Amino acid sequence: MKKVEELLNENMRLPIICAPMFLVSSPNLVISACKSGIVGSFPAFNTRTQAALNEWLTTIASALEAEKRENPATKVAPFAVNMVVHSSNKRLAADFDVVKKHKVPFVITSQGNPQPIVDEVHQWGGIVFHDVITVAHARKAIEAGVDGLILVAAGAGGHAGEVNPVALVREVREFWKGPLVLAGAINDGYGVRATEVLGANYSYMGTRFIATKEAEVDPDYKSMLLESDLRDLVLTDTFTGVKCNFLKPSIARAGIDLAMIDGKESVDLDLGGSNAWKDMWSAGHGVSGIHSVEPISHLIDRLINEYNQAAQTPIFTHASPINSTRTGG
Ligand SMILES: Cc1cc2nc3c(=O)[nH]c(=O)nc-3n(C[C@H](O)[C@H](O)[C@H](O)COP(=O)(O)O)c2cc1C
Repeated sequence: MKKVEELLNENMRLPIICAPMFLVSSPNLVISACKSGIVGSFPAFNTRTQAALNEWLTTIASALEAEKRENPATKVAPFAVNMVVHSSNKRLAADFDVVKKHKVPFVITSQGNPQPIVDEVHQWGGIVFHDVITVAHARKAIEAGVDGLILVAAGAGGHAGEVNPVALVREVREFWKGPLVLAGAINDGYGVRATEVLGANYSYMGTRFIATKEAEVDPDYKSMLLESDLRDLVLTDTFTGVKCNFLKPSIARAGIDLAMIDGKESVDLDLGGSNAWKDMWSAGHGVSGIHSVEPISHLIDRLINEYNQAAQTPIFTHASPINSTRTGG
């Protein structure tokens, strides 16, 4: 825990990781997040080649080093790269060579077994967190020697878990005392505080960061996030083979008949050339709480205010302290 705390907590303003998002996370987004005092991350898959990955890492590392030099009093959080460690990822070895060359401080692994890379990352002083959607996978990741777990619960954007976040955190906390991250529909300071109250250390937030000035996505995606609420989401494996929350208006916009998938979790459908992520857009259950597109620095300032507000608000208001006897006082 100490190594993780030294790397993360001392350099963070709020316990948030801006989660890796396919086709969304960019160097600009990562740099802004880290400069604002939260971890920024991106999936290695967002770069098409190892040369591009090398370029992104150089850009991010040098921008953050410059910020630390020019503003030594500012908290600059470390950045993370997300890698799929499943055997189906044919790029893994070549991508990992680039990550190793750059001694990336924080590696987030998904799917598969992180064990083969854990020792190597530790050798350069980095840390590895593995993302899981079940308790069984959490146990396996611990056996593989990871430094932290990311619990992706029901309601998350992207490939969502199916377990209730309260149950997932509490069950994993019965056997894991190390760093714990919770993902799924957290999009304000109240959610960040609630995550800590539940027993997790960090919030993993994706969807909220799509509605920021820095996210280089179709402006219609951002507008759709502002206009959407829970009724606009459908959980389906139709587009990616794995259950994922998608925005219904984006499906309609791609020319797909919503009636074919609405209310059904799995359908075999001709997509007519449309692609998940590029044409059909994902969002988590927290979408209803997104009301503005703003620079990340403003968003973080607001989240800090909300977090402090939540920390001060009594959870169960009484005129006098709660008495433990039934007669009260
Ligand atoms: C558009 C989009 C793309 C995503 N792509 C990835 C990805 O490439 N790799 C990954 O591990 N998670 C991915 N995720 C999941 C996020 O890392 C994170 O778990 C999720 O966004 C958290 O839930 P929230 O969106 O409700 O905050 C994606 C999520 C979204 C919304």
